[in-house]
Amino acid sequence: MKKINAALIGLGFGGAFAGIYKEHPNVGELTIFDTDRKKAERVSEWIGGCRIADSFEQILADKSIDAVHLVTPIPLHADMTVAVLDAGKHCACTVPMATSLDDIRRIVAAKRRSGKNYMMMETTLYTYQYFYARHMLDSGEFGRIQFFRGSHYQDMAGWPDYWMGLPPMWYGTHAIAPMVGLSGSRICRVNCFGSGTMSESLVRRYGNPFPVESALFEFESGVKGEATRSLFETARVYQEGMHVYGSDMSFEWGFSDGDDPYITKLLPATENRGRPVECAVTPMPNYYEDLPQELWHFTVGGNFDPLNPQDSLKKGAGGGHHGSHAHLVHEFVMSVVEERKPWIDEHLGGNITAAGICAHESALKNGEPVIVPRF
Ligand SMILES: NC(=O)c1ccc[n+]([C@@H]2O[C@H](COP(=O)([O-])OP(=O)(O)OC[C@H]3O[C@@H](n4cnc5c(N)ncnc54)[C@H](O)[C@@H]3O)[C@@H](O)[C@H]2O)c1
Repeated sequence: MKKINAALIGLGFGGAFAGIYKEHPNVGELTIFDTDRKKAERVSEWIGGCRIADSFEQILADKSIDAVHLVTPIPLHADMTVAVLDAGKHCACTVPMATSLDDIRRIVAAKRRSGKNYMMMETTLYTYQYFYARHMLDSGEFGRIQFFRGSHYQDMAGWPDYWMGLPPMWYGTHAIAPMVGLSGSRICRVNCFGSGTMSESLVRRYGNPFPVESALFEFESGVKGEATRSLFETARVYQEGMHVYGSDMSFEWGFSDGDDPYITKLLPATENRGRPVECAVTPMPNYYEDLPQELWHFTVGGNFDPLNPQDSLKKGAGGGHHGSHAHLVHEFVMSVVEERKPWIDEHLGGNITAAGICAHESALKNGEPVIVPRF
């Protein structure tokens, strides 16, 4: 069996992926790194031991490492991705890919130069819910897709500094990605409004006045989708929601993130006004069979707590984000092993990220349309 050596960098949220790499049958040696050495030691101990690097540069220079997964703070994504690709290694990076169109272009250019893989590790494209909607689409149950909707409501008070005042659509990927994935198309144009007001201290860092942004996206296929994103001073229970409206059936996320979705079916017309509907709250199956058996247990359980990995382990850590983590690692690793592109490559990741960057630009222009460039 072909094995690759992987490195995982940034062990806050990133810590949730360490055990998955360690147990993946196609991964030989795992190296981890965090500027906080204690975090790295805790994670290594938690997964039963792995190599700990002393610096990012040491990983870049290490010829035995084939692939690097970055889970570092947002402002570092673009520079670190380019450095990994230029070091001749495959690179996966958590979302967002970047926070400017120029940085997306730099990543696409580095990917081309290196001939290595780039993958954006978008959790929402590997959730139980996404797989279920994908099956509905492939089996034709939706009928014609009439409209998409995405949502991501999360309060970021108390999160690290770089989050404070972040333009909501710069981290719009969780709301945008499922629409792009299911459309089989790309977003080509956006109109977006920013709404609300927030504390001056939040506005200052990025010059962003908006706690909430709501965008209408046009897809090349002609279908449209709406996404709303709130980050600050907005009272709403957490939700990273995907909503798909078809001519025959629709899929709508539950009210809060962990609630089961609503599936609605339009029934044949009767003599009454309006066609009747059937609507059911539907529990999602776990699509673990698509993974090597060693990874099945990572698709269930609670969220990873970097301050308390031992307790996370007892709860079956790694199942966070609706089972997606193990699928993401598997796709990245197998794309390298099988010498093919990963699904969320620089073009798909670039479109999802750029749609959000352009949405914020539109919001700053009070809703003027902005063309989303092709990557
Ligand atoms: N669903 C998702 O896809 C999802 C969820 C949460 C976070 N994220 C993304 O993951 C990233 C990390 O999130 P987080 O909440 O862990 O952030 P964080 O800022 O709390 O933690 C980042 C970690 O990286 C380490 N770090 C900082 N600079 C580093 C460097 N130069 N080299 C190596 N390590 C470094 C820090 O010590 C820390 O352990 C963010 O970019 C965020 O956007 C994605």
